[in-house]
Amino acid sequence: MAAWLLLTLLLYQALLAAAHGSVQVTGIVGKPVLLHVDVPPGFEVRDAIWRYLSPKEELVATFFRGSSETLYQSRFHGRSRLHKNLTLEIGQVELGDNGTFSALLVNTRGHIETRTLHLAVYEVVSQLAVQVFTSTGQNSSAGACEVFLTCGASKGTNVTYSWRRAEAAQLHAGTHSFFEAGQVLRVQLGPGDRTACYTCTAVNTVSQVSVTIVPWKHCHKEEGVAASKYDYRDILLIALPLAVLAISMVTMGILHSWKRSGKHRIASLADACEAEPVPV
Ligand SMILES: *[C@@H]1O[C@H](CO)[C@@H](O)[C@H](O)[C@H]1NC(C)=O
Ligand SMILES: *[C@@H]1O[C@H](CO)[C@@H](O)[C@H](O)[C@H]1NC(C)=O
Ligand SMILES: *[C@@H]1O[C@H](CO)[C@@H](O)[C@H](O)[C@H]1NC(C)=O
Ligand SMILES: *[C@@H]1O[C@H](CO)[C@@H](O)[C@H](O)[C@H]1NC(C)=O
Repeated sequence: MAAWLLLTLLLYQALLAAAHGSVQVTGIVGKPVLLHVDVPPGFEVRDAIWRYLSPKEELVATFFRGSSETLYQSRFHGRSRLHKNLTLEIGQVELGDNGTFSALLVNTRGHIETRTLHLAVYEVVSQLAVQVFTSTGQNSSAGACEVFLTCGASKGTNVTYSWRRAEAAQLHAGTHSFFEAGQVLRVQLGPGDRTACYTCTAVNTVSQVSVTIVPWKHCHKEEGVAASKYDYRDILLIALPLAVLAISMVTMGILHSWKRSGKHRIASLADACEAEPVPV
């Protein structure tokens, strides 16, 4: 009973106490994360209260008279631990765990310190795939080939995509253009680009994945197959939105697509440049 009274009082005081500068912590989905609290020198902690503030306030852990308690009805129930050094450990971090934590420390003389931590949670980027759409336009007789490369990871949060071509400092603006914030690259290939390697890299704060392909292979593999010849507009109107919006479905369908001789092909590590070195 006395502990609860104290708790109520401390929570009330926490609202009044001036918060120190806040700390950013990065968490990864499925992994544990440690929320450290720095105790000022000479500050002998007697009680501590860890709270989660957003989106709604929840009590996560307390430390009273030398014993810690984490069995509160919070979203962290059953997967939080308060270490002796007052570090709060959250096991199996979830995307929804992002938000602000507050630690309230009381010393043996009744002085209060508060610490604020912001937890940002990311999912590791994985299952990256590049799809190649070929378009034989008016220039096909000249041996040219226009390809649309769409890159998508079916897992990962806050992912940004970029493209590069092996041995090129930057992509030539005349023959390359980007769509969908860089997720889609359109390339005008000529006979001189037979062995050109293109790499898509997907990055977020906690991970990075790349896939490399040789787009030219897709140009001539399907030559003469009427169904594989895409019109420019078909690609923009049908194929691209589908590929970009339903990329996870597409990725799940990789195996299926491999088996059929489909209208498009999904590149994988199997036709990576490493597997077929480019002659210098
Ligand atoms: C606190 O203790 C835990 C478990 O022993 C440890 O993993 C963590 O690094 C410690 N924190 C600090 C700030 O030393
Ligand atoms: C946590 O992430 C979700 C989306 O993943 C976002 O809507 C929300 O605003 C974030 N909350 C905080 C407190 O950052
Ligand atoms: C992810 O990106 C969105 C905007 O694209 C941003 O609002 C959000 O805060 C980011 N989340 C993290 C955890 O960085
Ligand atoms: C055909 O190729 C030439 C150069 O090789 C280029 O200038 C022209 O824009 C291309 N036409 C189309 C329709 O892509």
